[in-house]
Amino acid sequence: MKKVKCAVVGVGIFGEIHVHTYKTYLKSELVKICDINEERAKEMSKKYSVKYTTDYKEIAEDKEIEAVSVATPDFVHKDIVIEMLKNGKNVLVEKPMATSVKDAESMVNEAKKHNKILMTDFHNRFNPYFVQIKENFDKGEVGDISFIYTRLSDRIDVPLKWFTWSGKSGPHWFLFPHTVDLICWFANSLPEKIFAIGKKGVLSSYKVDTYDSVTAILDFGKFYATTETSWIIPESWPSIVDFYFKLEGSKGRLIVDFNEFTCKISSDIKKEIFFPFIPGYISIDKKPFGFASLPIQHFIDSIYENKKPIISPEDGLNNVKIIEKIVESIEKEKIVEFK
Ligand SMILES: NC(=O)c1ccc[n+]([C@@H]2O[C@H](COP(=O)([O-])OP(=O)(O)OC[C@H]3O[C@@H](n4cnc5c(N)ncnc54)[C@H](O)[C@@H]3O)[C@@H](O)[C@H]2O)c1
Repeated sequence: MKKVKCAVVGVGIFGEIHVHTYKTYLKSELVKICDINEERAKEMSKKYSVKYTTDYKEIAEDKEIEAVSVATPDFVHKDIVIEMLKNGKNVLVEKPMATSVKDAESMVNEAKKHNKILMTDFHNRFNPYFVQIKENFDKGEVGDISFIYTRLSDRIDVPLKWFTWSGKSGPHWFLFPHTVDLICWFANSLPEKIFAIGKKGVLSSYKVDTYDSVTAILDFGKFYATTETSWIIPESWPSIVDFYFKLEGSKGRLIVDFNEFTCKISSDIKKEIFFPFIPGYISIDKKPFGFASLPIQHFIDSIYENKKPIISPEDGLNNVKIIEKIVESIEKEKIVEFK
C-alpha cells in the first residue's frame, strides 16, 4: 500500500493530534513537521521520531509531500495554506479557515486554481453524538426544525494560559466555527439575517483584548438558531468546555449535552475535581482514539481514494462569512442581512 506523505505546520496543542494521527494511521506517512518555535518543533520531532524545520517554505518545496495540515494560530493560516496549494499540496486547515472573509476567499480561489483539496477541520461532524442525532434528523424522526440552541464555551485558562495569541482571536473565532458549522449542517442552508451581542471587560482586564462572551441569533427564515460562547468560565469549573446542543423540531427534539459527564476524577493530591472530555482525543495503545483524529484520517482517505471530502472549501468560507457578520452585527448594534 502506497502511503500518503504528510507534513504538519504548527505543532502546538492541536497540531500534535495531527502529528500523532499521521504517524500512526495506516494510510499516511509523516515526513516532516514545522514550527517557528524551535524548542517545540524539537520536542515533537523527538517524541514522534520525525524530521523538523522552522520554515514552512521548506515543507512547501518538498516535492514528495502530498498532504499538509496547517494548525497555526487562527489568524496565521492564509499565507501558509496558499503557499502549500501553490506547490501542489492538499491542505487540511484548522478551524476557523481564516479570521477574515478576504483571507478565506483567497484560500478557496487558490485551491480551485490548482484543483487541490482544501478542507477545514470541523471535527464535530465526526463526533459520534452529532453523527447519531444527524442520522435521526435526516430520517425525519423529529420533523422540521423549529429552533436550535447551542452553547460552546471554554474555561478562562484557555485564553489566559494556553495561548499567547488570544487577543487576536476570541471565543467567537475560536469556538463559533464549531457551533455555526453544526447549525448550518443541520439547517442545510445559510442564514438570511444575523443579530449578535458581545461584551468585553474580564479578559481585557488581563490585557487580552477580545470578547468575554457573544450570543448570536441566526435567522434562517422558517426557523432560527441561537448560539452562545464565552471564554470566561472560572478556573474552578471541573471541565475545560461547556458544550450543549438542542434542536427542537415539529415532531421531536434532539439534545447532546456534554455537561452530563460520565467520567469524574476527584483527587486529594491535586486538590481538584476534574471531568475530562473523553470522546475527542485519548491515546490507546499509543494510537489516537476519538473524533478529533477522524477528520484527519478522512482527509487522507479522500486523497487515497481520489474523492471529495465531506467538508467543502465553501463550508469553510461560509463559516468565516457568518462569523464576520456576527462581529459586524455586534459593532453596528443591529440586525445584518447575510445574503
Ligand atoms: N486547542 C484546541 O482545543 C483546538 C481545538 C480545535 C482546533 N484548534 C485550532 O488549531 C489551531 C492551532 O491551535 P493550537 O491550540 O494548537 O494553538 P497553539 O498556540 O498551541 O499552537 C500553534 C503553533 O503554531 C506555531 N506557529 C505560529 N506561527 C507559525 C508559523 N508561521 N509557522 C510555523 N509554526 C507557527 C506556534 O509556535 C505554535 O506552536 C488554531 O486555529 C485553533 O483554533 C485548537
